[in-house]
Amino acid sequence: MKTTISQVPAYEGQEVTIGAWLANKRSSGKIAFLQLRDGTGFIQGIVAKNDVTEDIFQLAKNMTQESSMYISGKIVEDTRSPFGYEMQVNTIELIQEAVDYPITPKEHGTEFLMDHRHLWLRSSRQHAIMKVRNEIIRATYQFYNDQGYVKIDPPILTGSSAEGTTELFHTQYFDEEAYLSQSGQLYMEAAAMAFGKVFSFGPTFRAEKSKTRRHLIEFWMIEPEMAFINHEESLEIQEQYVSFVVQSVLENCKLELNTLERDTSKLETIKAPFPRISYDDAINLLKDKGFTDIEWGEDFGAPHETAIAESFEKPVFITHYPADIKAFYMKPDPERPGVVLCADLIAPEGYGEVIGGSQRIDDPKLMEKRYDEHNLTGPAYKWYLELRHYGSVPHSGFGLGLERTVAWIAGVDHVRETIPFPRLLNRLYP
Ligand code: 4AD
Ligand code: MG
Repeated sequence: MKTTISQVPAYEGQEVTIGAWLANKRSSGKIAFLQLRDGTGFIQGIVAKNDVTEDIFQLAKNMTQESSMYISGKIVEDTRSPFGYEMQVNTIELIQEAVDYPITPKEHGTEFLMDHRHLWLRSSRQHAIMKVRNEIIRATYQFYNDQGYVKIDPPILTGSSAEGTTELFHTQYFDEEAYLSQSGQLYMEAAAMAFGKVFSFGPTFRAEKSKTRRHLIEFWMIEPEMAFINHEESLEIQEQYVSFVVQSVLENCKLELNTLERDTSKLETIKAPFPRISYDDAINLLKDKGFTDIEWGEDFGAPHETAIAESFEKPVFITHYPADIKAFYMKPDPERPGVVLCADLIAPEGYGEVIGGSQRIDDPKLMEKRYDEHNLTGPAYKWYLELRHYGSVPHSGFGLGLERTVAWIAGVDHVRETIPFPRLLNRLYP
Protein backbone atom coordinates (compact mmCIF):
# COMPACT_ATOMS: atom_id res chain seq x y z
CA MET A 1 0.00 0.00 0.00
CA LYS A 2 1.50 3.33 -1.06
CA THR A 3 0.92 6.08 1.48
CA THR A 4 2.45 9.17 3.09
CA ILE A 5 4.07 9.64 6.47
CA SER A 6 1.17 11.71 7.79
CA GLN A 7 -1.17 8.80 7.01
CA VAL A 8 0.84 5.96 8.60
CA PRO A 9 -1.04 5.96 11.95
CA ALA A 10 -3.91 4.38 10.01
CA TYR A 11 -1.64 1.49 8.96
CA GLU A 12 -0.24 0.32 12.29
CA GLY A 13 0.90 -3.29 12.01
CA GLN A 14 0.64 -3.23 8.21
CA GLU A 15 3.10 -3.10 5.31
CA VAL A 16 3.29 0.21 3.45
CA THR A 17 5.46 1.92 0.85
CA ILE A 18 6.43 5.59 1.17
CA GLY A 19 8.17 7.86 -1.31
CA ALA A 20 10.79 9.62 0.82
CA TRP A 21 14.08 11.45 1.14
CA LEU A 22 16.82 10.68 3.62
CA ALA A 23 17.02 13.56 6.11
CA ASN A 24 19.62 12.02 8.40
CA LYS A 25 21.09 8.64 9.32
CA ARG A 26 22.81 6.75 12.14
CA SER A 27 24.10 3.24 11.95
CA SER A 28 25.83 0.66 14.05
CA GLY A 29 27.16 -2.75 12.95
CA LYS A 30 23.81 -4.48 12.67
CA ILE A 31 21.26 -1.72 12.37
CA ALA A 32 20.74 1.49 10.40
CA PHE A 33 18.36 4.25 11.60
CA LEU A 34 17.08 6.30 8.67
CA GLN A 35 15.40 9.64 9.38
CA LEU A 36 12.93 9.82 6.52
CA ARG A 37 10.88 12.75 5.32
CA ASP A 38 8.29 12.99 2.56
CA GLY A 39 6.95 16.52 2.93
CA THR A 40 3.98 15.42 5.02
CA GLY A 41 6.14 14.53 8.00
CA PHE A 42 9.17 12.79 9.46
CA ILE A 43 9.50 9.12 10.51
CA GLN A 44 12.33 6.85 11.52
CA GLY A 45 13.00 3.74 9.43
CA ILE A 46 14.81 0.86 11.16
CA VAL A 47 16.88 -1.34 8.87
CA ALA A 48 18.08 -4.47 10.70
CA LYS A 49 20.81 -6.55 9.05
CA ASN A 50 18.96 -9.74 9.93
CA ASP A 51 15.67 -8.65 8.38
CA VAL A 52 16.80 -7.51 4.91
CA THR A 53 19.07 -8.73 2.13
CA GLU A 54 22.74 -7.82 2.36
CA ASP A 55 22.32 -5.46 -0.65
CA ILE A 56 19.55 -3.53 1.04
CA PHE A 57 21.47 -3.32 4.30
CA GLN A 58 24.53 -1.94 2.50
CA LEU A 59 22.32 0.50 0.55
CA ALA A 60 20.79 1.78 3.81
CA LYS A 61 24.09 1.98 5.65
CA ASN A 62 25.79 3.94 2.90
CA MET A 63 22.87 6.07 1.80
CA THR A 64 23.68 9.77 1.47
CA GLN A 65 21.61 12.67 2.81
CA GLU A 66 18.69 13.74 0.56
CA SER A 67 18.84 10.59 -1.59
CA SER A 68 15.34 9.76 -2.78
CA MET A 69 13.66 6.36 -2.59
CA TYR A 70 10.59 4.22 -2.26
CA ILE A 71 10.87 2.51 1.08
CA SER A 72 8.66 -0.35 2.31
CA GLY A 73 8.12 -1.89 5.70
CA LYS A 74 5.85 -2.49 8.63
CA ILE A 75 4.48 0.43 10.69
CA VAL A 76 4.84 -0.05 14.43
CA GLU A 77 4.21 2.17 17.41
CA ASP A 78 7.24 3.99 18.82
CA THR A 79 6.48 5.73 22.07
CA ARG A 80 9.88 7.47 22.22
CA SER A 81 9.39 9.60 19.11
CA PRO A 82 7.07 12.64 19.19
CA PHE A 83 5.42 11.30 16.02
CA GLY A 84 4.64 7.99 17.75
CA TYR A 85 5.41 5.54 14.90
CA GLU A 86 8.37 4.02 13.09
CA MET A 87 8.89 1.74 10.12
CA GLN A 88 10.59 -1.66 10.28
CA VAL A 89 12.08 -1.60 6.81
CA ASN A 90 11.86 -4.59 4.45
CA THR A 91 13.13 -3.12 1.25
CA ILE A 92 14.31 0.09 -0.42
CA GLU A 93 14.15 1.11 -4.06
CA LEU A 94 16.64 3.93 -4.57
CA ILE A 95 15.38 6.64 -6.97
CA GLN A 96 18.41 8.92 -6.93
CA GLU A 97 21.57 9.06 -4.90
CA ALA A 98 22.21 12.65 -3.82
CA VAL A 99 25.88 13.55 -3.86
CA ASP A 100 27.36 16.26 -1.59
CA TYR A 101 24.12 17.81 -0.32
CA PRO A 102 25.33 21.20 0.92
CA ILE A 103 23.24 21.51 4.09
CA THR A 104 24.59 18.95 6.53
CA PRO A 105 23.24 18.37 10.04
CA LYS A 106 26.08 20.52 11.42
CA GLU A 107 25.62 24.26 12.06
CA HIS A 108 25.68 26.66 9.10
CA GLY A 109 25.75 30.45 9.01
CA THR A 110 22.54 32.31 8.15
CA GLU A 111 23.85 33.76 4.88
CA PHE A 112 24.86 30.30 3.68
CA LEU A 113 21.43 28.94 4.58
CA MET A 114 19.68 31.87 2.88
CA ASP A 115 21.75 31.28 -0.27
CA HIS A 116 20.46 27.70 -0.19
CA ARG A 117 16.89 28.60 0.75
CA HIS A 118 15.58 26.31 -2.03
CA LEU A 119 17.13 23.38 -0.12
CA TRP A 120 16.93 24.77 3.41
CA LEU A 121 13.11 24.56 3.18
CA ARG A 122 13.49 20.78 3.54
CA SER A 123 14.81 20.99 7.12
CA SER A 124 12.52 19.98 9.97
CA ARG A 125 12.59 23.50 11.45
CA GLN A 126 11.69 25.26 8.19
CA HIS A 127 9.09 22.60 7.49
CA ALA A 128 7.48 23.27 10.88
CA ILE A 129 7.45 27.05 10.32
CA MET A 130 5.77 26.70 6.91
CA LYS A 131 3.18 24.33 8.37
CA VAL A 132 2.36 26.94 11.04
CA ARG A 133 2.09 29.56 8.28
CA ASN A 134 -0.24 27.26 6.36
CA GLU A 135 -2.42 26.72 9.44
CA ILE A 136 -2.71 30.49 10.01
CA ILE A 137 -3.88 30.90 6.41
CA ARG A 138 -6.33 28.00 6.73
CA ALA A 139 -7.74 29.37 10.02
CA THR A 140 -8.05 32.84 8.46
CA TYR A 141 -10.23 31.56 5.62
CA GLN A 142 -12.30 29.55 8.10
CA PHE A 143 -12.82 32.51 10.44
CA TYR A 144 -13.96 34.94 7.77
CA ASN A 145 -15.95 32.44 5.72
CA ASP A 146 -17.83 31.31 8.85
CA GLN A 147 -18.80 34.93 9.48
CA GLY A 148 -20.08 35.58 5.98
CA TYR A 149 -17.18 37.66 4.66
CA VAL A 150 -16.53 37.56 0.91
CA LYS A 151 -12.93 37.09 -0.22
CA ILE A 152 -12.07 39.86 -2.67
CA ASP A 153 -8.77 40.11 -4.53
CA PRO A 154 -7.44 43.66 -4.95
CA PRO A 155 -5.01 44.35 -7.80
CA ILE A 156 -1.25 44.06 -7.41
CA LEU A 157 -0.45 46.58 -10.15
CA THR A 158 -1.93 49.89 -9.14
CA GLY A 159 -1.87 53.61 -9.74
CA SER A 160 -2.90 54.60 -6.18
CA SER A 161 -0.84 54.38 -3.03
CA ALA A 162 -2.53 53.71 0.30
CA GLU A 163 0.29 54.18 2.77
CA GLY A 164 2.26 57.13 1.37
CA THR A 165 4.53 57.37 -1.61
CA THR A 166 8.05 56.95 -0.23
CA GLU A 167 8.06 53.17 -0.15
CA LEU A 168 6.56 52.41 -3.55
CA PHE A 169 8.02 50.03 -6.09
CA HIS A 170 7.73 51.78 -9.43
CA THR A 171 7.18 49.88 -12.63
CA GLN A 172 6.34 50.68 -16.21
CA TYR A 173 2.74 50.01 -17.26
CA PHE A 174 2.98 50.48 -21.02
CA ASP A 175 3.05 54.29 -21.33
CA GLU A 176 2.10 54.96 -17.73
CA GLU A 177 3.85 54.67 -14.42
CA ALA A 178 2.45 52.07 -12.01
CA TYR A 179 3.34 50.72 -8.58
CA LEU A 180 3.28 47.36 -6.89
CA SER A 181 0.56 47.42 -4.24
CA GLN A 182 1.59 48.39 -0.69
CA SER A 183 -1.88 47.53 0.61
CA GLY A 184 -5.16 46.50 -0.98
CA GLN A 185 -7.08 48.73 1.39
CA LEU A 186 -8.46 51.38 -0.95
CA TYR A 187 -9.89 48.66 -3.19
CA MET A 188 -11.20 46.74 -0.19
CA GLU A 189 -13.15 49.84 0.82
CA ALA A 190 -14.80 49.83 -2.59
CA ALA A 191 -15.49 46.12 -2.11
CA ALA A 192 -17.01 46.67 1.37
CA MET A 193 -19.49 49.13 -0.18
CA ALA A 194 -20.46 46.39 -2.64
CA PHE A 195 -20.36 43.26 -0.42
CA GLY A 196 -20.60 44.53 3.20
CA LYS A 197 -17.90 42.42 4.83
CA VAL A 198 -14.87 41.44 2.79
CA PHE A 199 -11.33 40.21 3.28
CA SER A 200 -8.30 39.90 1.08
CA PHE A 201 -5.14 37.86 1.30
CA GLY A 202 -2.28 38.71 -0.98
CA PRO A 203 1.27 39.94 -1.44
CA THR A 204 2.19 43.56 -0.77
CA PHE A 205 5.42 45.38 -1.52
CA ARG A 206 7.35 48.06 0.30
CA ALA A 207 10.62 49.51 -0.87
CA GLU A 208 11.68 50.06 2.73
CA LYS A 209 15.38 50.45 3.29
CA SER A 210 14.89 48.75 6.67
CA LYS A 211 17.13 45.88 7.60
CA THR A 212 15.42 44.64 10.74
CA ARG A 213 14.09 41.31 11.90
CA ARG A 214 10.53 42.57 11.29
CA HIS A 215 10.79 43.94 7.77
CA LEU A 216 10.40 42.23 4.42
CA ILE A 217 10.29 43.92 1.03
CA GLU A 218 7.54 41.56 -0.09
CA PHE A 219 5.11 40.36 2.54
CA TRP A 220 1.60 38.95 2.69
CA MET A 221 -1.28 40.76 4.27
CA ILE A 222 -4.81 39.80 5.33
CA GLU A 223 -7.04 42.86 4.97
CA PRO A 224 -10.64 42.72 6.22
CA GLU A 225 -12.90 45.72 5.58
CA MET A 226 -16.38 46.09 7.05
CA ALA A 227 -19.25 48.46 6.22
CA PHE A 228 -21.32 49.79 9.16
CA ILE A 229 -18.58 48.84 11.64
CA ASN A 230 -16.99 51.47 13.87
CA HIS A 231 -13.53 51.58 15.44
CA GLU A 232 -14.54 49.82 18.69
CA GLU A 233 -16.39 47.06 16.85
CA SER A 234 -13.40 46.56 14.57
CA LEU A 235 -11.13 46.00 17.59
CA GLU A 236 -13.50 43.25 18.76
CA ILE A 237 -13.28 41.55 15.37
CA GLN A 238 -9.48 41.80 15.45
CA GLU A 239 -9.10 40.26 18.90
CA GLN A 240 -11.50 37.45 18.05
CA TYR A 241 -9.69 36.75 14.79
CA VAL A 242 -6.22 36.71 16.36
CA SER A 243 -7.43 34.51 19.25
CA PHE A 244 -8.99 32.08 16.78
CA VAL A 245 -5.80 31.85 14.76
CA VAL A 246 -3.59 31.25 17.83
CA GLN A 247 -5.93 28.59 19.24
CA SER A 248 -6.13 26.88 15.81
CA VAL A 249 -2.34 26.64 15.62
CA LEU A 250 -2.18 25.26 19.17
CA GLU A 251 -4.73 22.62 18.27
CA ASN A 252 -3.54 21.65 14.79
CA CYS A 253 0.24 22.16 14.90
CA LYS A 254 1.28 20.32 18.06
CA LEU A 255 4.14 18.45 16.38
CA GLU A 256 5.39 21.59 14.66
CA LEU A 257 5.34 23.70 17.84
CA ASN A 258 7.22 20.86 19.54
CA THR A 259 9.84 20.82 16.76
CA LEU A 260 10.21 24.60 17.15
CA GLU A 261 10.48 24.25 20.95
CA ARG A 262 7.82 26.94 21.27
CA ASP A 263 6.75 27.74 24.84
CA THR A 264 3.06 27.08 24.26
CA SER A 265 2.01 28.30 27.73
CA LYS A 266 2.57 31.81 26.37
CA LEU A 267 0.10 31.11 23.54
CA GLU A 268 -2.59 29.39 25.59
CA THR A 269 -3.48 32.66 27.34
CA ILE A 270 -4.08 34.46 24.02
CA LYS A 271 -7.85 34.79 24.17
CA ALA A 272 -10.07 37.83 23.61
CA PRO A 273 -10.44 40.45 24.99
CA PHE A 274 -7.05 42.12 24.58
CA PRO A 275 -5.98 45.19 26.58
CA ARG A 276 -6.27 48.64 24.96
CA ILE A 277 -4.16 51.67 25.80
CA SER A 278 -4.25 55.07 24.17
CA TYR A 279 -1.23 56.56 22.44
CA ASP A 280 -1.13 59.14 25.27
CA ASP A 281 -0.92 56.37 27.88
CA ALA A 282 1.70 54.58 25.81
CA ILE A 283 3.85 57.74 25.85
CA ASN A 284 3.51 57.95 29.65
CA LEU A 285 4.29 54.25 30.01
CA LEU A 286 7.44 54.69 27.91
CA LYS A 287 8.56 57.68 29.97
CA ASP A 288 8.08 55.59 33.15
CA LYS A 289 10.18 52.85 31.56
CA GLY A 290 13.09 55.17 30.98
CA PHE A 291 12.45 56.48 27.45
CA THR A 292 12.67 60.01 28.83
CA ASP A 293 13.18 61.83 25.52
CA ILE A 294 10.15 60.48 23.64
CA GLU A 295 7.77 63.34 22.80
CA TRP A 296 4.05 63.35 22.06
CA GLY A 297 3.69 63.29 18.27
CA GLU A 298 6.55 60.90 17.57
CA ASP A 299 6.01 57.46 16.09
CA PHE A 300 7.09 54.36 17.99
CA GLY A 301 10.05 52.28 16.90
CA ALA A 302 10.75 48.62 17.60
CA PRO A 303 12.34 49.24 21.04
CA HIS A 304 9.29 51.27 22.10
CA GLU A 305 6.89 48.58 20.93
CA THR A 306 8.87 45.91 22.74
CA ALA A 307 8.91 47.95 25.97
CA ILE A 308 5.14 48.51 25.79
CA ALA A 309 4.47 44.83 25.05
CA GLU A 310 6.49 43.79 28.12
CA SER A 311 3.78 45.25 30.34
CA PHE A 312 1.16 42.86 28.95
CA GLU A 313 0.79 39.09 28.57
CA LYS A 314 -1.58 39.36 25.65
CA PRO A 315 -1.31 41.44 22.48
CA VAL A 316 -2.11 45.08 23.25
CA PHE A 317 -3.96 47.65 21.13
CA ILE A 318 -2.44 51.12 21.05
CA THR A 319 -5.25 53.44 19.98
CA HIS A 320 -5.81 57.10 19.05
CA TYR A 321 -2.48 58.05 17.48
CA PRO A 322 -1.82 61.65 16.43
CA ALA A 323 -3.33 62.23 12.99
CA ASP A 324 -0.04 63.61 11.68
CA ILE A 325 1.81 60.30 11.94
CA LYS A 326 -0.96 58.18 10.42
CA ALA A 327 -2.43 57.69 6.93
CA PHE A 328 -4.65 60.27 5.19
CA TYR A 329 -7.80 58.12 5.25
CA MET A 330 -8.12 57.66 9.03
CA LYS A 331 -11.17 59.20 10.72
CA PRO A 332 -10.44 61.86 13.33
CA ASP A 333 -11.82 61.28 16.82
CA PRO A 334 -14.96 63.49 16.91
CA GLU A 335 -14.14 64.42 20.52
CA ARG A 336 -10.51 65.24 19.80
CA PRO A 337 -9.72 65.91 16.14
CA GLY A 338 -5.92 65.84 16.59
CA VAL A 339 -6.00 62.08 17.06
CA VAL A 340 -7.50 59.40 14.81
CA LEU A 341 -9.73 56.36 15.40
CA CYS A 342 -7.02 53.81 14.78
CA ALA A 343 -5.14 51.05 16.51
CA ASP A 344 -1.95 49.09 16.11
CA LEU A 345 -1.93 45.65 17.67
CA ILE A 346 1.42 44.90 19.31
CA ALA A 347 2.26 41.22 19.80
CA PRO A 348 3.77 39.99 23.07
CA GLU A 349 7.37 38.84 23.54
CA GLY A 350 8.87 41.57 21.37
CA TYR A 351 7.42 40.53 17.99
CA GLY A 352 6.14 44.03 17.31
CA GLU A 353 3.16 45.40 15.39
CA VAL A 354 1.13 42.65 13.74
CA ILE A 355 -1.98 44.68 12.82
CA GLY A 356 -2.57 48.25 11.69
CA GLY A 357 -6.18 49.36 11.35
CA SER A 358 -8.63 52.24 11.61
CA GLN A 359 -12.07 53.60 11.05
CA ARG A 360 -12.02 55.40 7.69
CA ILE A 361 -13.14 58.91 6.88
CA ASP A 362 -16.69 58.67 5.50
CA ASP A 363 -17.47 62.39 5.16
CA PRO A 364 -16.85 63.57 1.56
CA LYS A 365 -15.98 67.14 2.61
CA LEU A 366 -13.33 66.01 5.05
CA MET A 367 -11.91 63.53 2.55
CA GLU A 368 -11.65 66.32 -0.03
CA LYS A 369 -9.74 68.39 2.52
CA ARG A 370 -7.33 65.50 3.06
CA TYR A 371 -6.86 65.19 -0.71
CA ASP A 372 -5.80 68.84 -0.83
CA GLU A 373 -3.45 68.46 2.11
CA HIS A 374 -1.82 65.34 0.65
CA ASN A 375 -1.91 66.48 -2.96
CA LEU A 376 -3.86 63.44 -4.13
CA THR A 377 -5.03 64.19 -7.66
CA GLY A 378 -5.88 62.52 -10.93
CA PRO A 379 -7.67 59.31 -11.90
CA ALA A 380 -5.67 57.28 -9.37
CA TYR A 381 -7.62 58.87 -6.53
CA LYS A 382 -10.82 60.17 -8.14
CA TRP A 383 -12.55 56.81 -7.83
CA TYR A 384 -11.75 56.50 -4.11
CA LEU A 385 -13.38 59.85 -3.38
CA GLU A 386 -16.51 58.72 -5.24
CA LEU A 387 -17.00 56.04 -2.58
CA ARG A 388 -17.80 58.97 -0.24
CA HIS A 389 -20.30 60.52 -2.60
CA TYR A 390 -22.59 57.58 -3.31
CA GLY A 391 -24.05 56.22 -0.09
CA SER A 392 -21.07 56.73 2.18
CA VAL A 393 -21.30 54.80 5.48
CA PRO A 394 -19.14 54.41 8.60
CA HIS A 395 -16.66 51.64 7.92
CA SER A 396 -13.47 50.19 9.34
CA GLY A 397 -10.78 47.75 8.40
CA PHE A 398 -7.33 46.50 9.21
CA GLY A 399 -4.31 44.69 7.85
CA LEU A 400 -2.58 41.77 9.55
CA GLY A 401 0.98 41.08 8.45
CA LEU A 402 1.21 37.33 7.95
CA GLU A 403 4.97 36.94 8.41
CA ARG A 404 5.12 38.84 11.69
CA THR A 405 2.20 36.78 12.93
CA VAL A 406 3.96 33.55 11.96
CA ALA A 407 7.15 34.79 13.67
CA TRP A 408 5.25 35.45 16.89
CA ILE A 409 3.17 32.28 16.99
CA ALA A 410 6.01 29.98 15.88
CA GLY A 411 8.50 31.79 18.12
CA VAL A 412 10.91 32.59 15.28
CA ASP A 413 13.30 35.51 15.73
CA HIS A 414 13.46 36.86 12.19
CA VAL A 415 10.73 37.21 9.55
CA ARG A 416 13.10 35.90 6.86
CA GLU A 417 12.32 32.36 8.07
CA THR A 418 8.54 32.84 7.95
CA ILE A 419 8.07 33.14 4.16
CA PRO A 420 9.25 30.49 1.68
CA PHE A 421 11.44 32.81 -0.40
CA PRO A 422 12.07 36.08 1.45
CA ARG A 423 12.74 39.28 -0.47
CA LEU A 424 15.10 41.34 1.65
CA LEU A 425 17.06 44.53 1.13
CA ASN A 426 20.06 42.59 -0.17
CA ARG A 427 18.38 39.46 -1.44
CA LEU A 428 16.46 38.61 -4.61
CA TYR A 429 17.71 35.00 -4.92
CA PRO A 430 16.87 32.18 -4.75
O1 4AD B 1 0.31 49.17 9.32
P1 4AD B 1 0.28 48.93 7.84
O2 4AD B 1 1.18 49.74 7.00
O3 4AD B 1 -1.25 49.11 7.43
C1 4AD B 1 -1.75 49.11 6.16
O4 4AD B 1 -1.14 48.84 5.16
C2 4AD B 1 -3.24 49.33 6.12
N1 4AD B 1 -3.59 49.87 4.80
C3 4AD B 1 -3.95 48.05 6.42
C4 4AD B 1 -5.44 48.21 6.40
O5 4AD B 1 -5.99 48.93 7.22
N2 4AD B 1 -6.12 47.51 5.49
O6 4AD B 1 0.58 47.40 7.57
C5 4AD B 1 -0.21 46.39 8.15
C6 4AD B 1 0.63 45.29 8.75
C7 4AD B 1 1.57 45.75 9.86
O7 4AD B 1 0.91 45.81 11.09
C8 4AD B 1 2.62 44.67 9.84
O8 4AD B 1 2.17 43.50 10.51
C9 4AD B 1 2.71 44.33 8.37
O9 4AD B 1 1.52 44.77 7.76
N3 4AD B 1 3.87 44.97 7.72
C10 4AD B 1 5.00 44.35 7.39
N4 4AD B 1 5.39 43.06 7.54
C11 4AD B 1 6.60 42.71 7.08
N5 4AD B 1 7.46 43.57 6.47
C12 4AD B 1 7.11 44.87 6.29
N6 4AD B 1 7.94 45.69 5.67
C13 4AD B 1 5.83 45.31 6.77
N7 4AD B 1 5.17 46.49 6.75
C14 4AD B 1 3.98 46.27 7.34
MG1 MG C 1 1.41 50.17 10.73
